[in-house]
Amino acid sequence: MEIGELLGSGRSADVYAIDGDRVLRRYRFAIDVTREAAVMAYVADHGFPVPDVYPGEGGSTDLVMRRLSGPTMLRALIDGEIAPEEVGRVLARLLQRLHAIPAQDSRDPRDRVLHLDLHPDNVMLTPRGPVVIDWCNTQEGPPGLDCAMSALIIAQVAADEASESAEVARAVLVALLGELGAAMDFGDGLEQAKERRGANPTLSAREVGVLDAAVGLIRTARIAS
Ligand SMILES: Nc1ncnc2c1ncn2[C@@H]1O[C@H](COP(=O)(O)OP(=O)(O)OP(=O)(O)O)[C@@H](O)[C@H]1O
Ligand SMILES: [Mg+2]
Repeated sequence: MEIGELLGSGRSADVYAIDGDRVLRRYRFAIDVTREAAVMAYVADHGFPVPDVYPGEGGSTDLVMRRLSGPTMLRALIDGEIAPEEVGRVLARLLQRLHAIPAQDSRDPRDRVLHLDLHPDNVMLTPRGPVVIDWCNTQEGPPGLDCAMSALIIAQVAADEASESAEVARAVLVALLGELGAAMDFGDGLEQAKERRGANPTLSAREVGVLDAAVGLIRTARIAS
């Protein structure tokens, strides 16, 4: 398999073009993508927007998937192509659609497939609509945890007073929480989300340092809405 140009790099993987139709997502550390690919295929079967995956192609740390066109929702937000309120609503609707799908393995009927990293840089705005990428954290569990995780990731930017994006992130957060409505009842999801974020080795000390303030911001925004 010939690998072409580097299309994008995240904190954990690099994404290369293979040809006009397919990309290769390669982890920078040893991690088996079998389960991630299986979950993507499962949610796709339930009509959830993810890139088609081509299992078995590439090595065990490689995921071959359909090449998407369009910017990530974060890029579109920075470029002024989408309003922060719309970003919040799109995220909330994607979370709700995902959580309507039954879990595959869990015996708890309340559990669902969770993404656990659903933020604006993991949504690509394609001509077919928003498509969710980067399923490396996926697992089954209570939907409130997934909603809390998305809110927390955005609130970390909103709570960082030195960030130029804090104000925009606040508008995204308020719209996300408003659109989530009842799903905003995270249970103990917010505490769990904070623990998980705190243990994420790809986070900077600065990002970990604003976690408490981010949780406070979510609690305040929930009371206000
Ligand atoms: N199917 C695809 N088609 C085209 N470009 C893609 C595709 N999947 C990913 N990309 C590009 O690669 C970038 C990185 O992808 P991805 O979010 O999966 O990597 P990551 O390392 O897990 O990111 P993170 O920093 O969130 O951990 C995306 O922002 C996007 O620009
Ligand atoms: Mg990503």
